[in-house]
Amino acid sequence: MRWFGFRPSTLVTMCGIVGYVGPNADAKAIDVVMEGLARLEYRGYDSAGVALVADGAIASEKRAGKLVNLRSAIEAHPLPDSSTAIGHTRWATHGGPTDANAHPHRGGEDGKLALVHNGIIENFHALKKGLIAEGVEFRSETDTEVVAHLLAKAYAAQGDLTAAMQTVVADLEGAFTLLAVHADQAGTVVGARRNSPLVVGLGEGENFLGSDVAAFIGYTRQALELAQDQIVTITPESVTVMNFDGTPAEGKHYEVTWDAAAAEKGGYATFMEKEINEQPHAVADTLLGRTDEDGRLVLDEMDITEEEFRAIDKIVIVACGTASYAGFVAKYAVEHWTRIPVAVELAHEFRYSDPVVDDKTLVVSISQSGETMDTLMAVKHAKELGARTLSICNTHGSTIPRESDAVLYTHAGPEIAVASTKAFLAQITACYILGLYLAQLRGGTYAEDAQAVMKELSEVPAKLEELLGSMKRVKEIARFMADTRSVLFLGRNVGYPVAMEGALKLKELAYIHAEGFAAGELKHGPIALIDAGQPVFIVVPGPDTPHGLHDKVVSNIQEIRARGARTLVIAEEGDDKVEPFADEVIRIPHTSPLLAPLLAVVPLQVFALHLSTAKGLDVDQPRNLAKSVTVE
Ligand code: M6R
Repeated sequence: MRWFGFRPSTLVTMCGIVGYVGPNADAKAIDVVMEGLARLEYRGYDSAGVALVADGAIASEKRAGKLVNLRSAIEAHPLPDSSTAIGHTRWATHGGPTDANAHPHRGGEDGKLALVHNGIIENFHALKKGLIAEGVEFRSETDTEVVAHLLAKAYAAQGDLTAAMQTVVADLEGAFTLLAVHADQAGTVVGARRNSPLVVGLGEGENFLGSDVAAFIGYTRQALELAQDQIVTITPESVTVMNFDGTPAEGKHYEVTWDAAAAEKGGYATFMEKEINEQPHAVADTLLGRTDEDGRLVLDEMDITEEEFRAIDKIVIVACGTASYAGFVAKYAVEHWTRIPVAVELAHEFRYSDPVVDDKTLVVSISQSGETMDTLMAVKHAKELGARTLSICNTHGSTIPRESDAVLYTHAGPEIAVASTKAFLAQITACYILGLYLAQLRGGTYAEDAQAVMKELSEVPAKLEELLGSMKRVKEIARFMADTRSVLFLGRNVGYPVAMEGALKLKELAYIHAEGFAAGELKHGPIALIDAGQPVFIVVPGPDTPHGLHDKVVSNIQEIRARGARTLVIAEEGDDKVEPFADEVIRIPHTSPLLAPLLAVVPLQVFALHLSTAKGLDVDQPRNLAKSVTVE
């Protein structure tokens, strides 16, 4: 398969791209593209740029830094009216975040071609050498500019942008989405994709291209999904899709179910705050439609047969970051309910290991974006090894579900803030639905409990509402702790991944050293970190947790307090045993032990958000990060 010829790169790139063509008389191209870029800025924000076709020439502006810099530049020097435009917001890889390296890049001596690119051209060195030998002068350090010159050259020979694109992609190695315009072909934008996202927005007398539907959601909900290795040409009246080999193809039409308002902040100061507050809906919506009239679980998005599910003797969860912590939480519950062994592997580690996986293994990938390259490669690896693959994903039409045998969509709605919050809760919920479905299908001790657990899950949204309304003290604590340099997090059982997620939130949002430990591991080394005043969050299991786990964690609190730790205890309402050893008690509503992570993580999210805000940091777009990590 072509995919396996794609050599992994040590670099990482994201980027957001937008393309637009409208009627000739319509001069709104710049507005459409700037609006799309604003919605895609979460994908990368090192620089931004636009190019328009106007009066037989390309007009372009690009600036290092966030979109606001580009906006100011355009306000100072307005671009000409145009109905054809492309735009780009960048997460730098080849070449630093400078004006010169910002996209679009121009091709040809006359600069009549403009190109934006997401991904990495792996063979750009060789291609660049060839172009330099032909006398081409480069204006940037990017791999993208190589493609711009190749396209300009092909256009000069063929006189058609689609044909030129087809010629050029044949020589490219790597992962890429490309959008190009040519000054001599107004009213046309040509795109190409390989292992990098690109969707088409279908308008009336206008058409759109974007890294995802957020790029054009303000204009249309009608979208076209493209397959790998396809070229798309949009004009105001037409959308033409072909494969890289020139054979005609058709995209898959679908309707986007969320609107522009859902992608905006809805009155909150940041997307992250909005998304934290949307968590009751994320859980409730993910639970919707999963049971039949008899209360039995049904998963109609599954392409794996019941027989195949019954034959599964091992589950491997592959994911990265927050999604992997959702997987860690699920391991405890799914093993408990199904008695199937569950391993959780970081996707990038799984991909380059020699795992024991066969056709009785179910490899479950978890991904909010559905585009995380590490996770995608793990899914490919699992398929190669003969495993059945199931994707838990929040983004319809994204690559990972398409590459999987089956998909269980989470319904968290668009998650824009780089720090994942509502997707985490939706992922745990979806994993639990899968675990209960398997338990029900395979019979055994917990088959009959599935309905009871589903009922309890359906009560979680109301508990989340209650919890979100009681975060005043957590916000105060966060503000008081703005100068803190290190925070530790402890948990046991399902509380352990919650502790790791709390630490990750703090690292990525507040740039503070933070670590999550299994509380039982403390005495094996980490307790040496504790000295006077060290803040430690402890996720305490409910008093009715089996195996006396609650009391064990209370002992752990005493151990660290005796050594000077400042204890910030997350405990169930009515759990009085923690009081004597807690500097602060943050209460969460009662729920059964396996469901507690859906509540216990919330104060940790709120804490990280408000500590980041107190430090004056960018909550939605933390430094060095991007929302979708689309190459390895
Ligand atoms: O889109 P995905 O769920 O595949 O993303 C996985 C991670 O990159 C993501 O969860 C990341 O760890 C978040 N920034 C954490 O808040």
